Amino acid sequence: MNNYSTIYEAVGGVAGIKGIVESFYPKVLKNPLIGPLFPPNIQPVMEKQTMFLTQFFGGPSLYSDEYGHPMMRARHLPFPITPERAEAWLGCMREALAETDLPAELQEVMLDRLSGPAHHFINQQP
Ligand code: HEM
Repeated sequence: MNNYSTIYEAVGGVAGIKGIVESFYPKVLKNPLIGPLFPPNIQPVMEKQTMFLTQFFGGPSLYSDEYGHPMMRARHLPFPITPERAEAWLGCMREALAETDLPAELQEVMLDRLSGPAHHFINQQP
């Protein structure tokens, strides 16, 4: 993250976030634990996630401007999220990040930042 004040800038802005999201969701859909939770038309989810991660990583508040307060735990309540599913989500993100040319240290910082919310969204034990 040297010389960048936000992760958002370090990954290359919205274009960088979009690239990660486009590599992430095909892995999510293929994952037997979490794929079935998602709609077959993943495009709207990818657009929302690009907007959300933009603001989550310090960029402009694209998601809140469009959809209001994120309330992400509440938005995930309709889906049964077990500890295993949280790990599967993070595993897909780890793979998506590994396919970028972002520095390993930055990838770890991003995973670390996502790990809190992912575990916070757990709403069901196995
Ligand atoms: C812990 C494992 C997770 C699972 C199993 C999961 C699953 C889901 C599912 C099923 C949806 C709804 C798709 C739809 O039908 O529209 C969704 C939406 C979303 N998720 Fe997750 N998610 C997880 C973690 C996360 C994390 C860590 C973040 C970001 C920090 C995140 C951000 C979002 C966003 C921004 C949306 C779109 C919300 C909206 O509809 O406005 N999710 N997620």
